[in-house]
Amino acid sequence: MHGTNIFLVGLMGAGKTTAGKLLAKHLHKTFYDSDHEIERRTGVNIPLIFDIEGEAGFRSRERAVINDLSQKSDIVLATGGGAVLSPENRENLKTRGIVIYLRASVEDLWQRTRHDRNRPLLQTNDPRAKLAQLFEQRDPLYREIADITTDTSKQSAQSLIHDLEEKLKHFDKTLCKP
Ligand code: S3P
Repeated sequence: MHGTNIFLVGLMGAGKTTAGKLLAKHLHKTFYDSDHEIERRTGVNIPLIFDIEGEAGFRSRERAVINDLSQKSDIVLATGGGAVLSPENRENLKTRGIVIYLRASVEDLWQRTRHDRNRPLLQTNDPRAKLAQLFEQRDPLYREIADITTDTSKQSAQSLIHDLEEKLKHFDKTLCKP
């Protein structure tokens, strides 16, 4: 496990950042969050990037950050929910680490994001319907690259981490490092 990267994927509100920080601490790895890295590099927040450059501009920054971070070693990376839309990101994540899909129901995702103003894609009249649509579109993409899929709905962060650590222990993936 030493040196191995762990990449967390899943929709907004799945708990990638929370789980990622805890997992990194438990496994003594360095934690990164692709959205935070984009904000650090640009000096502005995600909604402003969407405002000025549109989703396409944001996605291109996201690709660059994921390409850079996934080349590190011994990290846990929480990716933005839309990272899997790019075939390049999917390939980089799949080949440079173990991919964990944090899967949650649309209802839970909605409960966890409903008061949030930091996610431009959910600033619509019906964010719940938007989440349902994103789930339908992206669930197959998360599944396509996931080595481990875990349901986050019914467990606390602590039990989720315990479950993931158990699954990771038995994991034996030959990593094709670039
Ligand atoms: C997005 C998810 C967000 C962020 C951006 C777009 C998406 O990250 O990257 O608002 O397309 O699902 P989180 O999944 O961390 O909320």
